[in-house]
Amino acid sequence: MILVTGGCGFIGSAFVLRWLKDQDEPILNLDLLTYAGHPGNLAAVANDPRYRFVRGDIGDMALVQDLLSQHRPRAILNFAAESHVDRSIAAPQAFVQTNVVGTVKLLQAAHAYWQSMPGDEAARFRFLHVSTDEVYGSLQASEPPFRETNAYEPNSPYSASKAASDHFVRAWHHTFGLPTVTTNCSNNYGPRQFPEKLIPLMIHNGLKGLPLPVYGDGQQVRDWLHVDDHCSGLRAVLDHGRVGETYNIGGRSERTNLQVVHAICAALDSLVPLAGGGSHARLITHVKDRPGHDRRYAIDDSKIAGELGWQPSITFDDGMRQTIQWYLANQDWVESVTSGAYRQWVEQQYGGRPGS
Ligand code: NAD
Ligand code: DAU
Repeated sequence: MILVTGGCGFIGSAFVLRWLKDQDEPILNLDLLTYAGHPGNLAAVANDPRYRFVRGDIGDMALVQDLLSQHRPRAILNFAAESHVDRSIAAPQAFVQTNVVGTVKLLQAAHAYWQSMPGDEAARFRFLHVSTDEVYGSLQASEPPFRETNAYEPNSPYSASKAASDHFVRAWHHTFGLPTVTTNCSNNYGPRQFPEKLIPLMIHNGLKGLPLPVYGDGQQVRDWLHVDDHCSGLRAVLDHGRVGETYNIGGRSERTNLQVVHAICAALDSLVPLAGGGSHARLITHVKDRPGHDRRYAIDDSKIAGELGWQPSITFDDGMRQTIQWYLANQDWVESVTSGAYRQWVEQQYGGRPGS
């Protein structure tokens, strides 16, 4: 069996669902259920005998050690994190606690467990750390996409915490021999993404006729990857990635934020026309920029493509259409996750912004 952490979040839940569709091997999910974790994301497999959920913190070493010795997983995939850049600017401490301290504690527990394994099992064991392209900093328009050899230049408290976690993973391999692999992925989108991130926020606000808050000039570029493609990339790295290596995963879909928002508006115009006519694009509102806002991320995926034969398979247009349709069909999911605590965050984040 394998252990995933943070499996009730956006990417972790996509990974668990896909895992159980693809094979019989059981999967154990350790998730603290922060505001971003929703057991409902995995309602479809809640009663599957191959799936087991434990609520808990990756930083709780005693709990993790118990789970490891009880379930004896052949791999750990660490999805658990605080993941939203704006929240890291408003309140960085939780990012240090989970992304840095939590990851180190998880590494310590994994190392002790790995040392206790018989030789052949220890040789097969993997610790896969799920990280981000934001650790490389920001690109100018003319610069080539991020390669695995780029220097780390994290700019936000979020990316600094992820960069620190990557360094600790590297150190646990280099110093203690733990068989780790790290992935650095670009912006994901798809079903069940919490509506604090750009794409689900714009869909959510567009459907409610609310302003679509674009930070600054909206010319920042992200490389969008459908979450299912990310999961297939993780699977390729888990199965065939070289121990101690890092792999960049990207979508080959660079878009400015304004291009993304206009694409969402165009899709909403045809699927749910505004009462009284006009385009959802009239809801676009430029608001104060994010402090320290990275201008551009882009991924050079030649390492994972060349070594593991992986490449994204879902085009941005198809993925966006499917994603918007999912949000339209799952308004109850959106309502359930955007409860009191979410509304408080929206008020804090956007309430006082000029133009919002
Ligand atoms: P998310 O915020 O949707 O989910 C995070 C999950 O981790 C939640 O279920 C939460 O309850 C859980 N969690 C948080 N703290 C925990 C703790 N201390 N112990 C156990 N569980 C805890 O995040 P996501 O978008 O699914 O991202 C998953 C991982 O992928 C993160 O490590 C993130 O840095 C990385 N990543 C995300 C993206 C993206 O675009 N979303 C891109 C690249 C990398
Ligand atoms: O690159 C990978 C990273 O992508 C992941 O590691 C992070 O976990 C994930 O949150 C994401 O970070 P970003 O900051 O790029 O994603 P976000 O959806 O918050 O913002 C995308 C872009 O849209 C960014 O340039 C900021 C802008 N934006 C975002 C929001 C929420 C807006 O213009 N308005 C908004 O309201």
